[in-house]
Formats: sequence, C-alpha cells, structure tokens
Amino acid sequence: MLWWEMALIAIGAYALTILVLSLRNPETHIDWSKQDLENLKFPSDFSWGVATASHQIEGDNQNNWSQFESSQGLEASGSACDHWNRWKDDFDLIGNLNVGYYRFSLEWSRVQPQEGEWDEVAIQQYSEMVDNLLARNIEPMVTLHHFSHPIWFQNKGGFEVEANVEDWIVFSQKMFEVLSDRVKWWCTINEPAVFTTMGYVLGEFPPGARSFKQTRAVATNMMRAHARCYRTLKSMPRGDDVQIGLVKNINIFDPYRRWNLVHWVQAKLLDEMFNRCWLRGLRNGRFRAPSSLFSTKIPGLKGSSDFIGVNYYTHLLATPFMPTTVEIDPLIRPWEERTDFRYPMYAEGLRRSFDMVANLKMPIFVTENGVADDDDDMRPEHIRRHLWITANAISDGMDIRGFYHWSLMDNFEWAEGYTQRFGLYHVNFETQERTLKDSGQLYADVVKDNTLPQVVILAGGLGTRLGEISESIPKSLIEVNGKPMLTHILDWALCQGCRKALVLTGHLGEMFDDFTHRGMSLTFHQEPEPLGTGGALWNAKHLLDDEFILLWGDDFHPIDYNSIVSDHRQKAAPLTMTVTESHESMNLRHQDGQVIVYDKANPKANFNGYEAGTSIVKKSVIETHGREGKWSWEETIYTALAGKMNAYVDNTAFWDMGTPERLSRFGEFLKQGGP
Ligand code: GAL
Repeated sequence: MLWWEMALIAIGAYALTILVLSLRNPETHIDWSKQDLENLKFPSDFSWGVATASHQIEGDNQNNWSQFESSQGLEASGSACDHWNRWKDDFDLIGNLNVGYYRFSLEWSRVQPQEGEWDEVAIQQYSEMVDNLLARNIEPMVTLHHFSHPIWFQNKGGFEVEANVEDWIVFSQKMFEVLSDRVKWWCTINEPAVFTTMGYVLGEFPPGARSFKQTRAVATNMMRAHARCYRTLKSMPRGDDVQIGLVKNINIFDPYRRWNLVHWVQAKLLDEMFNRCWLRGLRNGRFRAPSSLFSTKIPGLKGSSDFIGVNYYTHLLATPFMPTTVEIDPLIRPWEERTDFRYPMYAEGLRRSFDMVANLKMPIFVTENGVADDDDDMRPEHIRRHLWITANAISDGMDIRGFYHWSLMDNFEWAEGYTQRFGLYHVNFETQERTLKDSGQLYADVVKDNTLPQVVILAGGLGTRLGEISESIPKSLIEVNGKPMLTHILDWALCQGCRKALVLTGHLGEMFDDFTHRGMSLTFHQEPEPLGTGGALWNAKHLLDDEFILLWGDDFHPIDYNSIVSDHRQKAAPLTMTVTESHESMNLRHQDGQVIVYDKANPKANFNGYEAGTSIVKKSVIETHGREGKWSWEETIYTALAGKMNAYVDNTAFWDMGTPERLSRFGEFLKQGGP
C-alpha cells in the first residue's frame, strides 16, 4: 500500500470516529428566545421544594469542615445563617415559597460530638424541626451525609478506612429510629463523586489530599456506605414505608473542539470518573472507582435506591489543559453566559442528565439545581430554563417527580466561603436579615400556578335520609369500607396533588376532633347554628382562598382535578361545575359550555345534565352573591350565575350517600379496588 493510501485510510478512520462520537453525543443548544418559558405546566402531584445542607446554614459547627477552614486559612463558616437558632423563622420563609418539600441534612458532628456520645438535645431539636415542618404541611427530605462529619471520625481516617463505614451506619440507624415515624424521604450520601474528587484529587475540600490511591479507597467506601445504609434502614421497622435514595451530581463533559479526538478522550474519561462509574455501580452492583482498572463487587449495591436524586449545575468543556482550580475561568461557548461561579448556565445539560440516569429505571428527583448570582439578574432565567427542561422531559414520558431549588437562602459555599450566593432569599450575614429576591418570588409563583387550589368540603350535612345508620352524625364521618367518607374524599384530593383542605363541619364540629390526614393540612370550621350550604361558606369567608375546589362531604367524585382546574382558569369563569350526562335523573340544562338553568326541586323535560359534585369557585362569587344567615348555595348561587357558569362535562361515575342502597353500592365499588 502506498503512503498516501495509508494516510487516506487514517484520515477516513479519524473522521469516521469523530462523526460517530458527535452523532452519539450531541451537545444540545436550544434557541431560548424561541421558547415560551412563561407558561410552565407540571403535573399537579409534582413535589416542589428547596434544599440546604447543615454546615452551610446552621452556624458554629465543629466538624471536618470547620477544621479545614482554619487549617487552610479559608473564609470561616462561623455562624453561617445562624439557622440552628433561627430555624422557626426560616421555616416561615419556606412556607412563603408555597413549596411542600424541604431537603436538609443532619449534622452528624452535632448529634455525635464524640465517638460513642450522643447529644440528646441536638437530636431533640432535629425531631422538633421535623414536627414543625409537618405542622406546616412541608414534607422533610433528610440527607445523612452532606460533605461534613465529626472531627473524631476524620481523625480515624474517615471514609478512607473501610472499617469506619460502620460509624456512619450507626449514626444513620440512630437518626432513622428517631425520625422515620415522620420522615418519609431519605438521602444517604450527597454527591459522593464531588466529596471524593474535591477532597482527595483536587485538595479543595477536607482533608485536602491529592492522592489517587486514597481517592479509589474513599470512592469505594462511600459506595459501600451507601449500599449498607440503604439495606440497613430498609430492614428496620418502617423501612418499607420510606423512600431512600442516593444523590448524584451530574456534570456534563463536552469536548472543547468537537473535531479533536484528544478532547473527546478527555471528555469521555471525565464522564466515566464523575458520572458513569457511579451510576453503573448502582445498576449492576460492581463498582470501578475513578482511576481504577478493576471493579469490585459491593454487597447490596445493585438497585440500592428507591429514587435517584440528581444535582445538576453545568457542563464543562474538556481539553487536556482544563483548569483544575476555580481561579482560572473554565472554557465556555461564545454564546453562553457565565454564572458567578464562572462556569456557564447550560440548562440543556439537565435534560442530558435525566437521559443519563434514566436507565436506572428509578423515579428521578432534581434534588439540587440553582445558580450563584449575586445580583439576581440571571437566576430568574436560570429557573425558567431548568424548569422548562424538566417540564418537557416529563411530557416526553420521563419519570421526574420533583424539583428542589438550591438553595433556600444564601449560605456558606464551601471552599468559596460567602462569595457565592445561591439563595432565593438574600442573607445579610452581618444582621442575619433575609430578603426575598425577585427570583424567589418567581419560583413561588410558578409553584403556586402548578399547585391545585385549596379544597373546601361541605361536611356538615346530617345523614337523615340514611335512616338507622345515623341521624345525628355528619354524613362525611360515616364509615364506608372501614374509613369515614371524609377520608375517602381526602385520599382522592391528596392523590390528585391537593395539599390543603378546609372542612366546614356544620354545627356538630366537635365530632371532627382528632381527625387528621397525612400530607394534607386541615382546617376545620364550625357553625354556631345550622346555616345551610351557602351560610356555611359565608361563615368561613375569612378562611377561603381566592380560588378553591368545592366538594360535598357526602359525595365521592374521583375526577381529574388538574383538567377541571385548567379548564376553569382558561375560561376565566366565576364558577365551574362538573356536569355528568350519564345519570338516572337530570337537574340542569347546559348549552355551549355553560349551565343555563339548575333546578333540583322541579327537574324539566329539556334538562340534559346532572351536577356531579366537584366545582371550582372564585371567592368573589361568595362576596358578591352571599349574605349573613341561613341560605342554600345551590338555590342562591346557581340562580344568580345562570348562563355564566362554566359547564365542565365529565362522565366519571360519582358516589353519593343519599340512601343506604347507594352507600352499599359505594362500598362494593371500593371493595373491587375503587378508582
Ligand atoms: C452542590 C452541593 C451543595 C452546594 C451546591 C452549589 O455540589 O451539594 O452543597 O454547595 O453544590 O455549588
């Protein structure tokens, strides 16, 4: 073969390799100016949250980090956000964001300041924090290791020594015993790849080492620790009732020059070390630590997660000369914008992260996403783009269950100290004053728009027509299949994504004492005397949100709330009523999407629908047409709004408790599996 033939073959092979690599690993860039980022739509049961970590907010922790800060002359975390003392006020801040979930970490060095010594006061405080969150209807998600641990543990070699894993398991067990009756969401380890690389390759996190040998040991031990933690907690009482997962940061690596094979090799190597080896380990139970040639089988690792937490921040452009310190700016594409951390905003990488974890076949939660942006001029766009990516991935069928913004408030950003502000609230570290940023308001608004309205249940009606079953207890408390009707109604509302309900109890309100429903914040309101359905709503005016879902306490109506609420909002109607056309009798006439006449007492021959029980109401309807005293909702409001009420036609069967026969039919339906 001639030299030029060989050269041609070599060039061809090179070009082909680059082509295949490029096609298989596209670096997506979206033209954001063409996307509608304003109207983001999420499933109504999507979990909205914010995230923090103990060492970054609590203040005055004595751990591997505080030790490292002083030994390296780094900015000291000091009193951080003083959250350990201000947690109640900070929980108000979470509530104001409308979110229903809060991810935070337990500070091991507080709980176990010395080996074998438990600080019961600290444990008690975490327990109170959990109670307080639940009382606000905010579900806690607890992280057991978020970069920080006790000094005594570090002095023994921390995760460098396999035998030390036991210490962390003991801590995890202890906290699980205390909290698992209330905490349903558990994260084992936060970002093991970041902990390992920053602490043992780059030396920027404690213990500041630079050793591949130690890196391999720590990485493997962290995976052992995760697997053991998962298996241990799962085997404890209540282990089956909780969800436990690993939190994995995904860094996307792209070759700086897409025609340069060396850049491709670098990108692939980094992707393997940061992402793939960890995810593969979780999938098949064998872990090949970064820089290691061999894999190790880790008992219990395979499938050791009920969900995968994804922390996503950016992509990095790989060359063999990439900067390894934050002092030098990373390379970015010319059209990209740098965050304060100097790496670019690249929301497209979040979708690539979802695609990367998808073959674990686990529900995905974005457990962290946010941006360092001192003046808050980039964060609103950052939030919109990442939520747009998430909403799109969901509509493409990906199983993404929730999104936790990093972070609730500005805090101690590890090696960067207080220079990098990630919060939805600005924190003045001198005065500890917190101020909501515009981006925080934006996030709160998106959450609100994607959260179902308050549910209001007219639960005061008595079971007079039920004869013997009851004449003196509210119908909604009568049991069907072992549970009060009200519980069935709330079960449905909760599974639709509703999180708060107002129960109008009639005049027998005491009978609802002790009634609770996990996941639903309940308010009960009693009438001084029987006021009728309309009077009951007027009487509770001060407790009504501007828009609410109105239900009858004796009807079980399992329809899709999301779709009726969107229909209501789209039509901007004062009231939307569900109309069923398949019913034994008819009590209304509807035409061109509106209810024209309603008459319960004298049904007419030209009637073509029946009110099926679920309505969406604007509070202004009550303010405009209601009054003091006893009055009927149907007679007053449906008459006043005739021709203006939006008719939402849905033929889903509904179940009422009108008579003993109907009640037993409903019982039968539930026995056969229900909705
Ligand atoms: C993550 C880490 C957080 C936070 C965030 C922002 O890697 O889990 O604690 O610091 O980065 O850089």
